[in-house]
Amino acid sequence: MKKTILVTGGTGYIGSHACVELLNSGYHVIIVDNLSNSQKDVLARIEKITQNSVVFYENDIRDKWALQTIFKSHSIDAVIHFAGLKAVGESCEQPLKYYQNNVYGTLVLTEVMEEYNVKNIVFSSSATVYGDSDKVPYTEDLPIQATNPYGQTKAMVEQILQDYAASDQFTKHDSTWKIVLLRYFNPTGAHKSGLIGEKPNGIPNNLIPYVSQVASGELKELSVFGGDYPTTDGTGIRDYIHVVDLAKGHVKAVEMLSNAPLEKGGCKVYNLGTGTGYSVLEIIQAFEAASGKKVPYKIVPRRSGDIATCIASTSLAKQELNWETEKELEEMMVDTWRWQNSEAMT
Ligand code: NAD
Ligand code: UFG
Repeated sequence: MKKTILVTGGTGYIGSHACVELLNSGYHVIIVDNLSNSQKDVLARIEKITQNSVVFYENDIRDKWALQTIFKSHSIDAVIHFAGLKAVGESCEQPLKYYQNNVYGTLVLTEVMEEYNVKNIVFSSSATVYGDSDKVPYTEDLPIQATNPYGQTKAMVEQILQDYAASDQFTKHDSTWKIVLLRYFNPTGAHKSGLIGEKPNGIPNNLIPYVSQVASGELKELSVFGGDYPTTDGTGIRDYIHVVDLAKGHVKAVEMLSNAPLEKGGCKVYNLGTGTGYSVLEIIQAFEAASGKKVPYKIVPRRSGDIATCIASTSLAKQELNWETEKELEEMMVDTWRWQNSEAMT
């Protein structure tokens, strides 16, 4: 029988790609999203790509009554929890908004899950929880040391979910929590259909959306934050992962919820990255090659809070999740450029 997955934040950038992969893998998908950072037309686009329908609730996950109604109306097998705010700079200016949305939102969601005895969850965490570690590539057992309120919300939710999983050994429950925490590195790219992708609100904070808008002429020039890092060319190095590979990692995580080593409950943590890093200058070069456009840039002082290098160790996800990335940097750039020029972005 088809399993039903509730996807919070499913009209967002990563969530929409995950919904496509879930539908393509034979799952029923229910989305709950308050549309605070996405548009409703994404639903029709997901349906067009997959030739499948999704059920949509326009609700905030902090609205307990609304969530109860959803859980009452459907037999849900698992939740993938993407809904959250994600701008690091904004989280420093308005920390309460981030703790309210990301931490309190997860508490309401998991309370309702427990009430309806749905204890399978995959959570969107981030490489940001590693802070600035010099042990590159980052393995999942490194200490957690988030350096901004956004990162703190991810670290807190991870801890809360780990405590839920641990609580099962102390009490007799009918069922146990089965939890997968996924730490994303730097998601980029878009679906090859050109129908879904990342639509930044205002001027982008992240490198690739910014580069893309410089290439298209919407922005004049890229500021490269720092040319004096201890890296090959002095600019920051990141592990960029194609959003479709990332989305497929969620399907593997959902499969794992009913298989070893989680069949008796527990919490597992996996990095989702490629294991390869690229510098800012390498990204500019790759984007110019993919788009055929010049990307003018100037090197400016470092951005506060940035680190030199952030690369995933991928062996655990490969061994246990049976997942690894398939797409290379060139495809990430080509797909971003196609999306930049799509009707949805104009
Ligand atoms: P996004 O903003 O595109 O998607 C998040 C979605 O959640 C949006 O559609 C938004 O409307 C919705 N939402 C937010 N708060 C909500 C609430 N209270 N109730 C209901 N819906 C709500 O972001 P994304 O890039 O797709 O990120 C998805 C998740 O992955 C987030 O939790 C983010 O923190 C995490 N993450 C993202 C990145 C990245 O670089 N994009 C990296 C690491 C982790
Ligand atoms: N950069 C520039 N100019 C820009 C934007 C970025 O030079 O205009 C540089 C940064 O200094 C960094 C690299 O490009 O060296 C990547 O920066 P991003 O802002 O694209 O990504 P970050 O690695 O800083 O952070 C992103 C998300 C975080 C998430 C983290 C790990 O914004 O939320 O990846 O997943 F936690």
